[in-house]
Amino acid sequence: MILSMIVAIDQNNGIGKGDDQLAYISADLKRFKALTTGHTILMGRKTFEALPKGALPKRRNVVITRQDNYSAPGADVVNSVEEALNLCQNDEKVFVIGGGEIYKVFLPKTEQLYLTNIEHCFDEATVFFPEINLDEWTVECHEGPFADEKTQLTYSYQDLRKKK
Ligand SMILES: NC(=O)c1ccc[n+]([C@@H]2O[C@H](COP(=O)([O-])OP(=O)(O)OC[C@H]3O[C@@H](n4cnc5c(N)ncnc54)[C@H](OP(=O)(O)O)[C@@H]3O)[C@@H](O)[C@H]2O)c1
Repeated sequence: MILSMIVAIDQNNGIGKGDDQLAYISADLKRFKALTTGHTILMGRKTFEALPKGALPKRRNVVITRQDNYSAPGADVVNSVEEALNLCQNDEKVFVIGGGEIYKVFLPKTEQLYLTNIEHCFDEATVFFPEINLDEWTVECHEGPFADEKTQLTYSYQDLRKKK
């Protein structure tokens, strides 16, 4: 099993405001779908509840919560990091898809990072990605910058792999 993370971050590592995303860049959402479809996505209970149509199709959805008997239609529910890793141990690729709390606890166990770097500082950000020590990572791929017409945001993709 390869544990990966996929996240869109701003220049201050901002990733969200309250329960909401900072930006919706349509090409980035398509890339998210292309990368994660057919694989497992692992998310915190708050991120799951913010999905507009619930569990995402054509992917195994796993939700982590400390609540007993939490019901997440279309998703498997786990109560700890260890339980999540055990459940997914035979899955080829697992993408941690947020949010802030879940990125923080899984980052030390993560081998690959799919970053969307948004060239903007959102003053309204309240949720942040943990600090990444770039000495520990190799940049495998860099694409962009691209401009998103709808939001007027500039962004680029960076795929990182943890050094052995
Ligand atoms: N930019 C991006 O790519 C991106 C992606 C995803 C999300 N986001 C943003 O991130 C924000 C949400 O993040 P968040 O940090 O507020 O919430 P979150 O990480 O989605 O979920 C937090 C919840 O996960 C559960 N949890 C956390 N640690 C746990 C542990 N060790 N064991 C078991 N359960 C655990 C708890 O659920 P219970 O309270 O039920 O116990 C906790 O309340 C939103 O603003 C969203 O838009 C951004």
